Amino acid sequence: MTTPNRTRVLTGITTTGTPHLGNYVGAIRPTVQASRDTSTDGFYFLADYHALIKCDEPARIQRSTLEIAASWIASGLDPEKVTFYRQSDIPEIPELTWLLTCVTGKGVLNRAHAYKAAVDKNNTAGHDPDSDVTAGLFMYPVLMGADILMFKAHKVPVGRDQIQHIEMARDMASSFNHLYGEHFVLPEAVIEESVALLPGLDGRKMSKSYDNTIPLFAPAAQMRKQIAGIVTDSKAPGEPKATEGSALFQIYQAFASANETAAMARAYAEGIGWGDAKQMLFERIDREIAPMREHYQSLIDNPAQMDKILLAGADKARQLATPFMRDLRHAVGLRALSSGKVATVAKETKTALPNFKQYREKDGLFYFKLVDAKGVTLLQSLGFASPKEAGQAISRLQNEGADALPALESCLEPVTAATLASVVANLQLFDQMGQNLSK
Ligand code: TRP
Repeated sequence: MTTPNRTRVLTGITTTGTPHLGNYVGAIRPTVQASRDTSTDGFYFLADYHALIKCDEPARIQRSTLEIAASWIASGLDPEKVTFYRQSDIPEIPELTWLLTCVTGKGVLNRAHAYKAAVDKNNTAGHDPDSDVTAGLFMYPVLMGADILMFKAHKVPVGRDQIQHIEMARDMASSFNHLYGEHFVLPEAVIEESVALLPGLDGRKMSKSYDNTIPLFAPAAQMRKQIAGIVTDSKAPGEPKATEGSALFQIYQAFASANETAAMARAYAEGIGWGDAKQMLFERIDREIAPMREHYQSLIDNPAQMDKILLAGADKARQLATPFMRDLRHAVGLRALSSGKVATVAKETKTALPNFKQYREKDGLFYFKLVDAKGVTLLQSLGFASPKEAGQAISRLQNEGADALPALESCLEPVTAATLASVVANLQLFDQMGQNLSK
C-alpha cells in the first residue's frame, strides 16, 4: 500500500531494448534492493511513451516492454509491495504533460542536453538545426516531469545524464505551485555513486549504442560464448596479468564478494590463462542469474499474465493519479461551469487588482493613470519630462500607498473626495499582493 508520509522513490526505464548485464548491475539490482526498504514507497514504471521518441518499430517496443517487465520481476521486484506499472496505462500522464507544457519556458527546453546534442550535430553537419528533430524529443523533459510530479516523488534514482531532467521537473513544479497553489512536491535526483559502471565486450561502457552488451537472460550457452568474446590482452597462460584496465576483472568484481575478488586478483598475479578466467567469470555470473532465468522465461512465455500484473499496478497508480488530476484541472480553471464560486484565492484576487497604465501624449510628455479592476480611472498624473520620472512616482504609490499622495500632489490631478477612499483601498491592494503585480 502507498502510505503518504513515507519517502516516495520513483524511477522509469525506457522500453527500447533487451536488458543487459550493465542494466542489471547499474539499475535493476540496486533498485530491487532499495525497493525492499520498508521506509520507502516505490514507484517503478516502464516508460513506453518515452520509447516512442527513439523508436518507430512497434514490435520492438512491445517486445522490449515484456522483456524489461519480466526482468524486473525475475530480479526480485515484488509488484505487491511496490507500484509497478506501464506509463501508457496512465492516461493522466499525457494530460498532466500538457498542463506542465504550459508552465515550461521554451528556452528551458532549448537547453535540454538531448535536444541540444541533436541541434549541435546538425549544425556541425551543416544541416538545418532542427533537421530530423521531432517535437517529441524536444518535449521529452516535460513528459518526464509529468511522470515524476504526478506521484509526488521525493527521490528519483537516475543516471548522471538525467540530472538535468530532474532539475527541470523541479522548476515545472515551482512554477505551477507559484501560479496555482501548492500542488506538487519538488523532487530530488539520487545518484548511486557506489554502483558499478560495467564495461562491455570491447572494454567501453556496456551500452546498446556500442553493440557490446551481454543480454541479462540469454541462455547459459550463449552467455558463455559471449563472455569468451570479452577483449583481453595477448598475455599467455603463466604470465602475470594486470587487473587494472581489465574489463573481465571489472565485470567479475561487479558480481563477486570481496573475498572472491581478492582471489581473482591473486589468480591474475599468478598468471591464470584468459580461458580459465573467462570460465570463472561465466560461473560466477551464472550462479547469480541462473535461478532467475527460469522465472524470467516463464514470464516471457506468459505475456497475458504480465499484462495482468501491469494493469493491477496501473490501477493502484491511478487511485492516486485520477483524483490528483481532478484537483489539478480545477486549479488551472478547467472546471465545471457551475463551480464558479469556488476559486483559488491568489489568482482570483489578482484579476481584481488595479493597474497603472503608462503612456505618452502628443505634447511629448509622459503620463500615468491608476485604473481599478473595472477600468475606472482613479488617479491621473500630470505630464512628466521622462518615463523614468513617471515610473518613480508609480513606484512610490505602489510601495507607500496613500501615504505618498501628499508628496505627489504637485504632479497629480486633484483627487476628489468621492474617489479618495477608492484610491486608498486600491493602493492597499498592491501592498497585500506584493509589489509589481501590476507589471
Ligand atoms: N528518461 C529516463 C531514462 O532514459 C527514463 C525515464 C522516463 C525516467 N521517465 C522517468 C526516469 C521518470 C526517472 C523518472 O533513463
